[in-house]
Amino acid sequence: MNLVVVSNRVSRGKPNEPMTGGLAAALLPIVEKSGAIWVGSSGRVRDGNQKEPFAEIEALGTGALAMLDLPAAHYGGYYEGFANSALWPALHSRADLIRASQEDYASYREVNAFMARALLRFQKPQSAFWIQDYHFLALGAELRALGVRQPIGFFLHTPWPTRAVIGGVPNHRELIEAMLAYDLIGFQTEEDCENFLSYAEQDLGLVVRDGVVHSHHGRTRASVFPIGIDPQQFAQLAAKAATHPDVSRLRRSLNGEKLAIGVDRLDYSKGLINRIKAFDRMWTLYPSLARSVSLLQIATPSRGAIEAYGNLQSDVAKLVSDVNGLHGEVDWTPIRYLNKGYSQAVLAGLYRTAQVGVVTPLQDGMNLVAKEYVAAQNPVDPGVLVLSKFAGAANELDTALIVNPHDIDGMARTIAVAVSMPLPERRMRWEAMMAKLRKGTIQQWFADFTDALWDSRVDRIETCPSEDVIADPLAARQLRPVTNGARFH
Ligand code: F6P
Repeated sequence: MNLVVVSNRVSRGKPNEPMTGGLAAALLPIVEKSGAIWVGSSGRVRDGNQKEPFAEIEALGTGALAMLDLPAAHYGGYYEGFANSALWPALHSRADLIRASQEDYASYREVNAFMARALLRFQKPQSAFWIQDYHFLALGAELRALGVRQPIGFFLHTPWPTRAVIGGVPNHRELIEAMLAYDLIGFQTEEDCENFLSYAEQDLGLVVRDGVVHSHHGRTRASVFPIGIDPQQFAQLAAKAATHPDVSRLRRSLNGEKLAIGVDRLDYSKGLINRIKAFDRMWTLYPSLARSVSLLQIATPSRGAIEAYGNLQSDVAKLVSDVNGLHGEVDWTPIRYLNKGYSQAVLAGLYRTAQVGVVTPLQDGMNLVAKEYVAAQNPVDPGVLVLSKFAGAANELDTALIVNPHDIDGMARTIAVAVSMPLPERRMRWEAMMAKLRKGTIQQWFADFTDALWDSRVDRIETCPSEDVIADPLAARQLRPVTNGARFH
């Protein structure tokens, strides 16, 4: 098989470069070893009517990395617009934050179509395409419209919300119909998968049997593939990182004090405000923990041109400053707050230094920070993971201390419990989590998805929907082929 992996963001695999994207960090080791070609955005845009999309191609392990300049006229509407101001809030159940115009939607579709044209040069008879994430929901349909008949799979790294919430996205129906051009759609959790299937059945009126949606595109299987990490490799990275200057300086600065760590993109889905309020509450409820436990919060700026992110950045900064002003002492700062990215190598060492990892998103597809924190621990003296029940990772890491991020008092009490948990209980919880991580590695995820992609490949139905694909005749009348100019069947 000649695998072509596609994602908006890619990683060049420089070990010391800051890496905050869970997706890019996760895909890197498997692309390096599998010989796949990984295609994504170069982060640059290009003007004009290029005949051929421009790609910069470089070797990446046994595979290759192809970075495309995306069209300047559509980049803003695609990335800041439809992808991150309509889809992202909806996928994280924040319908109140959905902002998108029809121009943004048109740009999103243009960039999906542009990417499809660019991918043709990587197509071989034995190719399979594996598209990643919400930036490219319609890419499979675009590839089919260009005549691609090879297997095309899609994996969603975020949650998939209820029918009511996804129904708040402009053009949701057209977009989700376009997704049915994929042979296989992978989700992080059962709940995400069920939400998607229930939309297909109830809103599109399609027949869904045993996880397979029958539509005018043919058959699309929806399944669950929880993404993992390489725990062994991450543990080695953490052990080695002890001598890294940032890590040893942090250790020295603690003077025997305990440390909790949070590492997130500055995103409203990550629950940063609630987390900081929980620490505030903890220092108020348990004054003895002041001076003996501090928080290191790394919050990497993200999508700063979008209003909701700009607002969040100032809200979090203000709250950190208020909490530090209230609980701080001349020689003690409760929260060390850093707005920059760190390499995986440094992060591994920081995780190992912290006795508590706090991963408390309001909604999260998986959250690989939770898995990395666990893998980075010293087996003879592991730290404690405090994990939101709304992170996909909570399905597997059920011996973490599971919290409700909306319950500030509950979180405050749980963090206090984590700080003083005796060693035997920490080891018992940690070993159970490590066993799960060893079972569900990133390599296993890759193998499971690609095997299922081959298995689910079916002959495409070239004609209109036959009667047995329509469960509800009323919905059938509304079901129309995806239309966006002449590019579609
Ligand atoms: O959660 C989905 C995801 O693709 C993550 O894997 C990644 O951290 C993030 O979104 C990427 O965001 P951006 O590329 O906008 O920084």
